[in-house]
Amino acid sequence: MENFDFYNPVKILFGKGKIAELGKHIPKDAKILMTYGGGSIKKNGVYDQVMDALKDYNIIEFGGIEPNPHFETLMKAVEIVRNEDIDFLLPVGGGSVVDGTKFIAGAAYFEGDEWDILAKRAPISKAVDFGAVLTLAATGSEMNSGGVITKAVTKEKLAFGNPLLFPKFSVLDPETTYSLPMRQITNGIVDAYVHVMEQYLTYDVNSPVQDRFAEGLLLTLIEEGPKALAAETIDYENRANLMWAATMALNGLIGMGVKSDWATHMIGHELTAFHGIDHAVTLAIVLPGLLTQLKEQRGEKLLQYAERVWNITEGTDEERKVLAIQKTEEFFQSVGVATRLGDHNVGKDTIDTITKRFEGRGYVGMLPDVGVKDVAEILEARL
Ligand code: NZQ
Ligand code: ZN
Repeated sequence: MENFDFYNPVKILFGKGKIAELGKHIPKDAKILMTYGGGSIKKNGVYDQVMDALKDYNIIEFGGIEPNPHFETLMKAVEIVRNEDIDFLLPVGGGSVVDGTKFIAGAAYFEGDEWDILAKRAPISKAVDFGAVLTLAATGSEMNSGGVITKAVTKEKLAFGNPLLFPKFSVLDPETTYSLPMRQITNGIVDAYVHVMEQYLTYDVNSPVQDRFAEGLLLTLIEEGPKALAAETIDYENRANLMWAATMALNGLIGMGVKSDWATHMIGHELTAFHGIDHAVTLAIVLPGLLTQLKEQRGEKLLQYAERVWNITEGTDEERKVLAIQKTEEFFQSVGVATRLGDHNVGKDTIDTITKRFEGRGYVGMLPDVGVKDVAEILEARL
């Protein structure tokens, strides 16, 4: 196992009715900017619950943070934070609202061009405190210190992160997810699954704790995911297990001491940037291609995954690896995701554009086994 520093200070407030406890976790004299997305929280009662819990507080609202949040929109909130002396932020929504608010928190005190926080990974030295109310189980943003922001004008989707950007707390009430459309429940299952794969399906470093945690999360998603889609009535326990699985998939724990990749995410972000394809869907398109490309290099882990997650024990090494990749893609399809570029009207011209972008950047993920030259091959196999 490799050396690591594990730090995760996020207090998780999990379960039914937990929004009512918000007041226990925010300083009484805080001036709050509550941020949200396109309005789902006003239809499903979450907004009312938050306002009820915070009726004695001084709150300003900022709505309209879009999925794959835009730098341009977020900068309007940064101005409000600066002009109104806001000292606490409260995102209420999915990963986009939480990510967007992390950016607002870091940009508010930043001197210089705020886009550099993303484009140049410019460090921030101070951030506004924030806590989150999560309404969509998928990204893990509620318990990590990273985010992904899009500059609409240049179609760039870039990641950023800083230990100052951990939420102080996150409220995870599975009942808030009851109003999600099926498409977003599916997205959550697939995104969490691929978060685990990015950290698990790489190279063996003798990390049985991380491996068994990762396999447990994958098996949970495989068991609970289809139940959520098939259920005629919503099952609280099912939603609770999905929500916790998604949080655990990207709160840092399973990534400690192992070789993480993130190439699938980096390629996927480009598909969202150029075509607006939902984040999770891009991952379901890219991952089977990436694993096929790396069948030899990552063979040992692929065989472990085949056996422990999919019970594949018969056949040659090659046959078991191929079947495990096929099972993975079939799982994504079984929850309703179309896994080919062609399904989303993406053709060869986009592959060329994306390849050029990676050529300019000079790297793809965090491991040397996916080089810039591999991007086109991976995507061409997914046409
Ligand atoms: O905007 P509203 O009206 O709230 O509607 C949202 C949005 O349209 C809706 N929604 C959310 N909760 C709902 C609901 N609708 C009904 N009932 C509810 N309870 O769902 C739509 C999608 O929301 P969004 O926040 O965009 O989804 P998600 O949580 O999947 O977030 C995706 C973003 O997170 C980034 C992605 O790149 C993407 O920008 N990621 C962030 C990560 C992180 N911070 O660690 C890691 C991930 O890999 C990912 O990259
Ligand atoms: Zn993701």
